[in-house]
Amino acid sequence: MSTVVLIGSQWGDEGKGKVTDFLAEKADVVVRYQGGTNAGHTLTVGDEVFKLHLIPSGILYPGKRCIIGNGVVLDAAALTKEMAGLQERNIDISQLRISDRAHVVMPYHKRFDELDEEQRGKGKIGTTLRGIGPAYMDKVHRTGMRVADLLDEQELRGKLTLLLEGKNLLLTKVYDAEPFDADLLFEEYRKYADILRPYVTDTSLLLDEEIRSGSKILFEGAQGTMLDLDHGTYPFVTSSSPTAGGACMGTGVGPTRINHVLGVAKAYTTRVGDGPFPSELHDETGDRIREIGREYGTTTGRPRRIGWLDAVVLRYASRINGLSYLALTLLDVLTGQETIKICTAYRYKGETIQHVPAMLGALEECEPVFEEFPGWQEDLAKIDRFEDFPAAAKNYVRRVAELTEVPVALVSVGPKRKQTKILHDIF
Ligand code: IMP
Repeated sequence: MSTVVLIGSQWGDEGKGKVTDFLAEKADVVVRYQGGTNAGHTLTVGDEVFKLHLIPSGILYPGKRCIIGNGVVLDAAALTKEMAGLQERNIDISQLRISDRAHVVMPYHKRFDELDEEQRGKGKIGTTLRGIGPAYMDKVHRTGMRVADLLDEQELRGKLTLLLEGKNLLLTKVYDAEPFDADLLFEEYRKYADILRPYVTDTSLLLDEEIRSGSKILFEGAQGTMLDLDHGTYPFVTSSSPTAGGACMGTGVGPTRINHVLGVAKAYTTRVGDGPFPSELHDETGDRIREIGREYGTTTGRPRRIGWLDAVVLRYASRINGLSYLALTLLDVLTGQETIKICTAYRYKGETIQHVPAMLGALEECEPVFEEFPGWQEDLAKIDRFEDFPAAAKNYVRRVAELTEVPVALVSVGPKRKQTKILHDIF
């Protein structure tokens, strides 16, 4: 048995798609376990660029089984579009499987996401407006629509009628917004159901069979540890569990069957949306990294906030996820910096602390304590072997491993598959 959970160790956008894609070549099965279209992966295969939001990146390899687990909130409109887009480019999607227990993001969830953000005003979370929070709210509130409901016309009609009574009351009386029409939604969603039906199954059962037969399974986390509903910078978080524990809940695979957890971390830090960010850069260095690293959101196009690598956050991610290894991405983006910094601790109320405080106000007050390193000028993207990297770059990677107490297994220095250097084999 060989099962690896891959998670984001920071605030998302760590380059997980690229690492997943790299590992997917060796895996037999790739599984998404939480989040929805708030995630976005950009993958470069040869000269072709693919942008995926819901379908696991393994789909680009023929014959890999790709699973959307029960923990994902599935936007049926977006998924069917993504499926059609791949088919138009001659990508075989016959190995896609969708959990019958996954919840569906409905158009009213997206509307509530917008309305809630408007209402929050200055205190807005900066969500991706993809209906994620409201869809998980309905799941927890036990008023969600599951994929299995979608496939059953009677259930779909009955649930839509019942649910919209309450939703429309809220929309019209509280938010002063337009109601939704149950008949129109029914017609739209039964069409999606017809497209999705051949792919829907009990994916926990399927994964059990795969594990028993010795398949290599990669669980692909979306977002990142600091956006985790429980462990992130609440309330500036997403509404799911992107951390390693979420992989069990979101797929129906028990914890004893997980072998390794790989944390993906950028060689610096980024964050989209609002909320505290202790190692943030508000100067030209930040702007430079944003431009070189093309740090604009895949899903929303928003410019990302930039900061130095935060080892406090990475140690926290190691603890929460039980990291076995780190994959360090975008190291090439730091090329050309005269000096590079890593935040090793925070100064809070005159004391040096090594952990992430629960209260946002406290984290906002935290001043970063930096360690400084000499940079390098050589273009890492063009160097074949990690051993041939400039000493300053190798030293930086070594120091990240030391500070986090997690071995670095992969270093990525460009979007192409061959630009990922292997320091330890994962599968
Ligand atoms: P939501 O997931 O759309 O509800 O957004 C909640 C927070 O998570 C916001 O700060 C978003 O910017 C952030 N977020 C959600 N998905 C991603 C992602 O894939 N990468 C980075 N940030 C994300």
